[in-house]
Amino acid sequence: MSEWQKTGWRQKPRVQMPDYTDAAALSAVEAQLANFPPLVFAGEARRLKQHLAAAGRGEAFLLQGGDCAESFDQFSADAIRDTFKVMLQMAMVLTYGAKVPVIKVGRMAGQFAKPRSAPTETINGVELPSYRGDIINDLAFTPEARTPNPQKMLQAYTQAAATVNLLRAFSTGGFADMSRVHAWTLGFTDEQEVQKYSEIASRIQDSIDFMRAAGINAETTHEFSSVEFYTSHEGLLLEYEEALTRLDSTSGKWLAGSGHMIWIGDRTRQPDGAHVEFCRGVLNPIGLKCGPTTTAEDLKVLMAKLNPENEEGKLTLIARFGAGKAGEHLPRLIKAVQEEGANVTWVCDPMHGNTIKSSTGYKTRPFDSVLREVRDFFGVHSAEGTIPGGVHFEMTGQDVTECTGGVRAVTEEDLSDRYHTACDPRLNASQSLELAFLVAEELSSLRATQKARQAG
Ligand code: PEP
Ligand code: CO
Repeated sequence: MSEWQKTGWRQKPRVQMPDYTDAAALSAVEAQLANFPPLVFAGEARRLKQHLAAAGRGEAFLLQGGDCAESFDQFSADAIRDTFKVMLQMAMVLTYGAKVPVIKVGRMAGQFAKPRSAPTETINGVELPSYRGDIINDLAFTPEARTPNPQKMLQAYTQAAATVNLLRAFSTGGFADMSRVHAWTLGFTDEQEVQKYSEIASRIQDSIDFMRAAGINAETTHEFSSVEFYTSHEGLLLEYEEALTRLDSTSGKWLAGSGHMIWIGDRTRQPDGAHVEFCRGVLNPIGLKCGPTTTAEDLKVLMAKLNPENEEGKLTLIARFGAGKAGEHLPRLIKAVQEEGANVTWVCDPMHGNTIKSSTGYKTRPFDSVLREVRDFFGVHSAEGTIPGGVHFEMTGQDVTECTGGVRAVTEEDLSDRYHTACDPRLNASQSLELAFLVAEELSSLRATQKARQAG
């Protein structure tokens, strides 16, 4: 394969990217970004890769989550705190179920650009370019708002930098203390309708009490009071990605400095396309969405391109088929991986194959479909003897009404109450935590089956 260059993607067919009209303005922004500090460091990306390698072997479990699209309007310290907080709660519950470390990766600090199903949108006979995320254009339906504006990359960078800064502070500044995090969860399970989860919650509390009695607490033990938290986003807007790419002096390799992990979307995974070309050359762990149209042949080519050295932890395959469809698609992709002897980490995104239009006109996702897809995913891996390495959710710590269902049932009629997403519907805090309890149960029974197999 030819020598990789950070500009090499420019020679490849590109899809889902804006056509900027003002070339001079675009170049000026790119030059500015190229001088700004990277948002993450190579050592961190390498460390995440090691953790993901462990997840691929069943020795860790990935929890990746956050907004479908971060937005400029809804940017606030409280919103970041609340999503971070619920992810920590979920991670503790999942750790309990999986009995392995849970890797925490936010769809945060860079998740701005969106692929769309159509390039334009027509309302009342007026046709305008589709909204592609705040890093590209505005949601308002006017020609000015919808014109791609390169300046928005600078605002996205600034917001991402502020987000990373806050996440780093939350991770080590005392906020992540295990007993505090679990106290929030106990507040949740105390409520009548979620009593069924209180048994797991009280067992976690027992474990914390035991550790404390043994002298393991926030004062004595770093791991008790701090967490590693990583950032990720879809590497979609390649002008932005290229401008933040830096040479790592330690390894002589290139780092996508925009986030720890970047992924390739289901619409941009053409083996000869621009996105694959960019992603194949950076040292970061790479995610690859696999949907119903992913063929075994394409997957083989993509694995060879994206992970030519077959490094563990380098490539995470994010399955997103829709509830009831994993049985049809996942086995052939698992077989392709096995035929190549490829090292991958399998993760389930139960969101993107389960978007429906509600009777009230809102895009939504039923909680039960999300849960069902996770269960399908676990079921197929169990049948194939392969490893489910993690989950990927669109979620928020806010009390929104975007997905239906959950114990505190959100109905289709409720959707209009607090529907704030800039793109796809997210699980709210309660739905997210409930899902973590249910996934933890799946992980516990998986462990039990594995143990029984080993013993038998
Ligand atoms: C996403 O993760 O927001 C997304 C667009 O997913 P996919 O590429 O799997 O459709
Ligand atoms: Co989405």
